[in-house]
Order: sequence, then C-alpha cells, then structure tokens
Amino acid sequence: MSQVVFITGATSGFGRAAARRFAQAGWSLVLTGRRSDRLQALQQELGAQVPVHIATLDVRDAQAVQAVVQNLPAGFHPVKALINNAGLALAPGPAQQTDLQDWHTMIDTNITGLVNVTHALLPQLIEVGQGASIVNLGSVAGQWPYPGSHVYGASKAFVQQFSYNLRCDLIRTGVRVTDIAPGMAETEFTLVRTKGDQTASDKLYRGTTPLSAEDIAEQIFYVATLPPHININRLEIMPTRQAWNPFAVDRDD
Ligand SMILES: NC(=O)c1ccc[n+]([C@@H]2O[C@H](COP(=O)([O-])OP(=O)(O)OC[C@H]3O[C@@H](n4cnc5c(N)ncnc54)[C@H](OP(=O)(O)O)[C@@H]3O)[C@@H](O)[C@H]2O)c1
Repeated sequence: MSQVVFITGATSGFGRAAARRFAQAGWSLVLTGRRSDRLQALQQELGAQVPVHIATLDVRDAQAVQAVVQNLPAGFHPVKALINNAGLALAPGPAQQTDLQDWHTMIDTNITGLVNVTHALLPQLIEVGQGASIVNLGSVAGQWPYPGSHVYGASKAFVQQFSYNLRCDLIRTGVRVTDIAPGMAETEFTLVRTKGDQTASDKLYRGTTPLSAEDIAEQIFYVATLPPHININRLEIMPTRQAWNPFAVDRDD
C-alpha cells in the first residue's frame, strides 16, 4: 500500500516541518522546492530514516511539474498525499503602492503553481483512492480581509474554493481534499514578504506567541492520516493570542 507524500515548498517553514513529521511516521518522501541545497540537506537529514526523493522544482513551470511527476522513481509512486504548500505573500503595503510584478508572482505561485501540481498528481491520487489526500495551504487571509492582503488574500480565497470544488468532482474516488488555513505562524514567510527585512520579520513575531511550523505540520499530518471515511473540509487555526480587529471607519479630522 502506498505511503508516499509529495510536498511542495519543502525547503522551509511548514513544508520542511511536514517532511519531518511524515518521516517520523515512516512515509516515503518526495520533497520539492527551488533551493536545491536545502533539499539536499533535508535528504541528508531524513534519508537514513525513510526513502527520500528530492526534485528541484518551481511550481510555476507546468512542464517542469509534469516532468517531475512523470519521472518519480519506483517506490515513490503512486502518491497518496499531496501537500500543496509552496506559496508566498509579497508587497505588504497598500494595493495602490504595489508593483504589478509582485501581484503576478503571487498569482503564478499560489494559484497557477498549486493547480499545476494538483493536475499532474490527480491520476496517481485517484489510483490510490481510499485514504488519499490533497492538503492545500490556504490562509486566514483567504476569508478575512486586512490591509495589505490584496492579491495574497484573494489567492488564498481561490485555494479555499478550489479545494471545495475539487471535493465535488472527487466524491466517488475516495480522494480527500482539505484547505488548511493558518493564522500568524513564524517561518520565513515574513522575511519573504518584506524581501529580506529580518528586523521587520522579528518585530512582527516579538512579544506574542505565534504558531510554529511544527504546529501546522502536525495538523497537516493529522488530516492526511485520518480514517479514509473522514474529510476535514477546512481547518482554520490561529494562535490563541491572535484575533480580529473592529471594522475600520474613515472619519473627518
Ligand atoms: N507563515 C504564515 O503565517 C502563513 C499563514 C498562512 C498561510 N501560509 C501559507 O503556508 C505556505 C507555507 O508558508 P511558510 O509559512 O512555510 O513560508 P516559508 O517558510 O517562506 O516557506 C515557503 C515555501 O514555499 C516555497 N516556494 C515559494 N515559491 C515557490 C515556487 N515558485 N516554487 C516552488 N516552491 C516555492 C519555498 O521554497 P523555495 O524558495 O526553495 O522554492 C518555501 O519552501 C504558503 O502557501 C503560505 O502562503 C503561511
């Protein structure tokens, strides 16, 4: 019986923590991301524990995704769990001050990249059938608006609706689909969002208790290993010390 998990964005944050969590449970790992050195380091770390196949991959490139999936070595297919984790936020300022390219990069990664990988792996997931899972990394930003979220939040709203819609089509296949929607979690996410501003990243997480990459990895592992008849549709997770603000109101000075 296949116990292969395919993780996008395994070089950092949730993806790397998920790789460690699935390895702990004995799964074979297909780890992908753009940074080859980090993939090699993870293979080095986990390779003694479980079979690990690494592939340097930019999820935006549909042909490259197809090639990686077609060329999975024996023992690494069919894939039973797809963790669609690769993603990013850019341009934390207001929409009207954003570079158009940053919007395109978020759409290309969070939407196009996610559908590229899903489309390529659907036949294998359906082959596995009962117990197979697609776990998509959405965000609280997909449901709750906030300043500076513009295209990032909209891309995660896509992830939520795509997850729900997939379920409708996959109902007779046994393949489950979950949208995991984390709130504030300390990873390299803010470093990427601010284009390398470590001080801004440290400031965001200082003085509070954000979620950790391991917290989310545990939830990813949980939904992908539930008994086959259970499908968690959406799992929204916030730190206890995060909540919503009141509505903003523009008033005369
Ligand atoms: N941290 C949070 O607060 C938070 C909250 C809600 C949702 N999320 C979502 O959770 C997911 C993981 O984020 P994280 O917090 O773990 O951030 P992270 O530490 O920055 O990790 C992001 C991962 O995505 C990969 N990635 C980015 N662009 C890629 C591309 N074009 N092709 C392939 N891989 C790519 C990166 O790998 P390479 O750079 O090596 O390619 C990296 O491994 C994202 O989808 C993010 O939107 C994060």
